[in-house]
Amino acid sequence: MCGIVGYIGTDDSKEILLRGLEKLEYRGYDSAGIALLNQEGIHIFKEKGRIQDLRRVVDPAIQAGVGIGHTRWATHGKPSKTNAHPHQSASGRFVIVHNGVIENYEQLKNEYLADVPLQSDTDTEVVVQLVERFANEGLPAFDAFRRTLRLLKGSYAFALLDKEDKGTIYVAKNKSPLLVGLGDGFKVVASDAMAMLQLTNQFVELMDQETVIVRKDHIEIYALDGTKIERKPFTAQLDASDIEKGTYPHYMLKEIEEQPLVIRKIIQAYRNERGELAVDPEIQRALHEADRIYIIACGTSYHAGLVGKHYLEKLAKIPVEVHLSSEFAYQMPLISEKPLFIFISQSGETADSRAVLVKVKELGYPALTITNVPGSTLSREADYTLLLHAGPEIAVASTKAYTAQLAVLAVLAEVIAKSRSRQSGVDMARELGIVANAMETVCGSKDEFEQIAREYLDSAQNAFFIGRTLDYAVCLEGALKLKEISYIHAEGFAAGELKHGPIALIEDGTPVFALATQARVNLNIRGNVKEVVARGANPCIISMDGLAQDGDRFILPEVHPLLTPLISVIPLQYIAYYAALHRGCDVDKPRNLAKSVTVE
Ligand code: F6R
Repeated sequence: MCGIVGYIGTDDSKEILLRGLEKLEYRGYDSAGIALLNQEGIHIFKEKGRIQDLRRVVDPAIQAGVGIGHTRWATHGKPSKTNAHPHQSASGRFVIVHNGVIENYEQLKNEYLADVPLQSDTDTEVVVQLVERFANEGLPAFDAFRRTLRLLKGSYAFALLDKEDKGTIYVAKNKSPLLVGLGDGFKVVASDAMAMLQLTNQFVELMDQETVIVRKDHIEIYALDGTKIERKPFTAQLDASDIEKGTYPHYMLKEIEEQPLVIRKIIQAYRNERGELAVDPEIQRALHEADRIYIIACGTSYHAGLVGKHYLEKLAKIPVEVHLSSEFAYQMPLISEKPLFIFISQSGETADSRAVLVKVKELGYPALTITNVPGSTLSREADYTLLLHAGPEIAVASTKAYTAQLAVLAVLAEVIAKSRSRQSGVDMARELGIVANAMETVCGSKDEFEQIAREYLDSAQNAFFIGRTLDYAVCLEGALKLKEISYIHAEGFAAGELKHGPIALIEDGTPVFALATQARVNLNIRGNVKEVVARGANPCIISMDGLAQDGDRFILPEVHPLLTPLISVIPLQYIAYYAALHRGCDVDKPRNLAKSVTVE
C-alpha cells in the first residue's frame, strides 16, 4: 500500500513524478503529493483524491531537477490533504515520503518530540521530525537519517530531501519494496519498476535495512551500520506495453481477456526440453518430503488455495490445509512433522502472508511462494518460488492472477503426481491447452454476461453465489469480485449449507448465481436451486456442457472436471465487471482498497 517515487537529474521532475505516481495508483489512491527541490527551496503540492486531482494543484511554472512523490492508502490518519505525503519537518528543511507503517511512532513521539507540534496524524511525520532533531544536534543529514532509522520498528520505504543539499535524495528500505533506477545523468526511485519504466529498465534492488545516497550521476548503498555495499543492477523484464490499457476501457477487462494467453504462457514456462511439464527438482524434492502442505494466502489467492488443495490432494496425494494468513499468524494449528508451506500471493508483498512466512522461517520449516512478481518480498524470503507468468496485474480486483494461480497449482500437482507414481490420469499440458481455448470461447460471450449483469444486478441489493465442491470455491471468488467492485452485498455459499441458515436471506427476486460444473453433485445443486426458487429467488445457472439442463442461463465448454474453476470464474468476473460499470463504479480502483496490501 502506498507508492513512492523520486527523480534526480537534469529534466524537470514534475511530470516524471506525476506519471510515475499514476502507474503506482494501484498501491493506493486516497491522496497524493509531490515535493520539488530547486534553487528557491522545497515546493510541496498535495491533494486528497487521485493523481488527477493532484495534477490540478501543481504549479506548472515551477521547474525542479529533484523531486519525490507519494500516492497514499491511509493507515494512520484519515485521507486528507494534511495527512497526505510528503511530510515536512518543523523548520521546513526536510521532506519525506513513506510506504509502510512505523509501529513505535507514538513512543518515539513521546520520547523525542514532546516539544514539536505535529501537523498530521501520521506515523511518517514523526520520522521527518526526528531527522531534523538529530540534524539540529549537529549530525550531517545522512547520519541524522540513519540514526532515525535505527530507532524505527516497522516497515518502510522512504525517500527524503534536504533543502540544504540540492543534489541528493536519501532513501531507505525495510520490508516495503523499493528500487533505485539508473539512467545516464539521472536516477529514479520507485516502489515498483513499472513507475519508471519509461525512463529506464536498469534497476538496483534494495534489501531490508539498507540506505542509499542517490545523486544524478551515481548511487551509494550502505547497510545501517555504515558498511558500504556494492550491487549490480538488473534489467526489469517488463514491457512498457504490458502496463498500458491499450484499447481497453479498463485494466480489469483487459486482464480478464488476457487469461487464455496467460494459461498458454504457463504451459510454455513449465515445459522442460523434453516437452514435459516440470518444476525445479528442489521444489519437487520439498513436496516429496512433506507429510502435509499448508497453503497460506489472503483474498482471491486464498480462494485459489482452496482449489489448489483439491489438485494437490487428488493428484499428488498429499494432505493439504488452506489457511487465511491473517488468522494463521495468530492462531497456528498443530503442525505436522514434515510440513511444507505454500504462500500464494499475486503481489508477493502482502503483509499478512509475510507475517506468517517470518514465523515459519523462525520455526525452520520450508516455504514455497507462488507469485506473479519475481524478486518480491515473499519470493525472496521463501526457499523456493514458482512464478505465475501472468504479466502485471493492474486492476485492483484480481482476475488473471487467480486463474494463473490455479494453473500453476495444477502443474505442480501433476508434476508431483507423475514423479510419485510415474503415471497420472491427467495430461495436464494438454488439458490446460483445452482450458485456454475454452476461455477464449467464454470471453467471446461477454455481451451475454453484460446482459446477465443488467438483468440480475442493476437494481439488486444482495446477490448469492452457490455451488458444491470446486464450484463452491469459485462461488467465494465470484462473490468477492462482485462485492469489491460493484459494492453489491454478495456472498458465496456451499449450496448444501443454505438450509442450515443462509436460505433465510432469500426474498422475492434475490439473484442467486449457481455453478453446476461437477457431475458428482449436479443433481444436488439442482435440488438446491429448486429450494431457493421455491422461496422467490431469481436463479442464474451456469453449467458445463454435458451437465446442462433446460433453463440454464449459460453453458460453459467442457474441460477436465478438475479444471472447471479456470473457466467457470470467467462469467463471474465479467458479471462483476459489468455490474460495477452499470453502477458507475470505478472498476479498476474500487473504494477503500489497494492492490498491494502491505499492512497487517
Ligand atoms: C481481490 C484481491 C485481493 C488479493 C489479496 C491478496 O480481487 O485481489 O483479495 O487477492 O489482497 O493479495 P496477494 O495475492 O497479492 O497476496
